[in-house]
Amino acid sequence: MPARRKLENVGACVFDAYGTLFDVHSAAAKCRDDLGEKADALSALWRQKQLEYTWLRSLMPMHADFWQVTGDALDYAMAATGLDNTALREKLMALYLALDAYPEVPDTLASLRSMDMKTAILSNGSPMMLEAAVASARLTDLLDAVLSVEAVGIFKVSPKTYQLAVDAFNLPPERICFMSSNAWDAAGAANFGFQVAWVNRFGQPRERLPGEPKAEITSLEPLVDLVRG
Ligand code: LAC
Repeated sequence: MPARRKLENVGACVFDAYGTLFDVHSAAAKCRDDLGEKADALSALWRQKQLEYTWLRSLMPMHADFWQVTGDALDYAMAATGLDNTALREKLMALYLALDAYPEVPDTLASLRSMDMKTAILSNGSPMMLEAAVASARLTDLLDAVLSVEAVGIFKVSPKTYQLAVDAFNLPPERICFMSSNAWDAAGAANFGFQVAWVNRFGQPRERLPGEPKAEITSLEPLVDLVRG
């Protein structure tokens, strides 16, 4: 039974970007004519490798920004699915800068702001990528801050990344509510001390990792009621 505890005394709502606000599979979906039956496999592998490379580079440690990692992961995924097409690679990368936002995102952010709640993104994305995605989805005026892990040169789930939100809002971790559809990110953020709502968009089982989300939701729609206090 998914947890649905109220989020208490929240001073800021901080969102993961990719998979949570933005649909990472919308890039490949817009290239279905080029990708044919390989579209879903390519998109899944692209995302999987992108995340693996963030964890591996953080362990090595050999940081490169998320744009580089995203391109490297796409190169791997294209090779693995037998695609060799430079123009298609460039098209997919360009589309990654203009991903679709999930439909409930603008209204959710607007409702939170109307309650005087601070809103922010905290993402692995590089500042350039996040600026482009936020502008393309017309979310710029709905966010108080867009925080990139580039400020600390390491990827999630390093505690240094979550600390960026603490520093940005001058709030203790327990007053920050963090939303991610990525269960491993939800675990990392809960382990850090945030109140976490796991946005389980894909019906996944919970991770067997330290850090327990306080609430599990399937889209961002219930969030406003959860934080209303
Ligand atoms: C992000 C990745 C984890 O936006 O989706 O940080």
